[in-house]
Amino acid sequence: MIGAGGVELEARGESARFLAEVLDGLGAPRKALSPKWLYDARGSALYELICQQPEYYPTRTELALLDLHADEIAEAVGPDALVFEYGAGSGRKTVRLLAALRRPAAYLPVDISPDALAQTAQALSRRFPRLVVRPVVADFTVGVALPDLDLPCARRLAFFPGSTIGNFDPPEAVSLLRRMAREAGPGGALLVGVDLPKDEGTLLRAYDDAHGVTAAFDLNLLARINRELAGDFMLSRFRHRAAWDARLSRIEMHLESHEAQLVHVAGAPFAFRAGETIHTESSYKWEPRAFDALAAIAGWRLDRTWTDERAWFSVRLYGRAS
Ligand SMILES: C[S@@+](CC[C@H](N)C(=O)[O-])C[C@H]1O[C@@H](n2cnc3c(N)ncnc32)[C@H](O)[C@@H]1O
Repeated sequence: MIGAGGVELEARGESARFLAEVLDGLGAPRKALSPKWLYDARGSALYELICQQPEYYPTRTELALLDLHADEIAEAVGPDALVFEYGAGSGRKTVRLLAALRRPAAYLPVDISPDALAQTAQALSRRFPRLVVRPVVADFTVGVALPDLDLPCARRLAFFPGSTIGNFDPPEAVSLLRRMAREAGPGGALLVGVDLPKDEGTLLRAYDDAHGVTAAFDLNLLARINRELAGDFMLSRFRHRAAWDARLSRIEMHLESHEAQLVHVAGAPFAFRAGETIHTESSYKWEPRAFDALAAIAGWRLDRTWTDERAWFSVRLYGRAS
């Protein structure tokens, strides 16, 4: 957990990691950056706007599932659960979950985006005044030390909505699910939102909306590099592109260079060919059985599932296998 005194140090560490990863990612033969860097304060705000776009079905579909099945989910999880959430965002789904659960013991939201996390923690503390809420600013891909609250709880529940698991290649997804299994401990549970394969047109529209909000979210990464790492990207020389890779069952987001150009970051030069891209995000669409097999490798056994009528999105509850 980052205490008040540690925030500045952590911010400096984070900015050194950002620089190192950007230099590495832009220097690679196929340029790529982790999607976690999309989420500075502006990126988090733009993600919230994406969720409101008519084309972006995942948020609406998952919220509807959580609303419709709130009682069954609460029953299956049981009372007195301590809930932790990797990548809490605005916590809008968490509000639904916490309102449905019986006597939740505490809520530990983890996020890499400090301002968004602080707002979420405040909003949830106001909404549930008796709930213990302890926000943790951290990158969950490099390990998270959750605070030891020394509170009695019946079980620990990892809540991982938003199809965030889809941002990870299968081996990374297994490591992350394993980390959650360790953190949940014996008797622990995982409630995860999984986006399912569907027609290509629907997927492409969801990741390249007509109002250009997803494009602004993607391009904000270049603005962030300019701001925080002394970059000189000219945003007008790049465009956002979404592509469906049927073989890997994933949507990819790319920033494509309109022309041959030279860009600098912290004084280091990076050449772009016309049409060359930076791969900024993947979003895997999992067949339910394939996802269960992945979760099983990480130590999770399927308990219950809830899926919408179109079979576009699935909320899945797992228990620790041992
Ligand atoms: C796709 S959004 C989902 C937000 C929310 N869970 C929802 O369902 O609406 C991903 C969230 O995870 C956070 N995030 C992404 N990568 C992260 C990382 N490596 N460590 C911590 N938080 C991360 C982002 O800041 C963002 O809030």
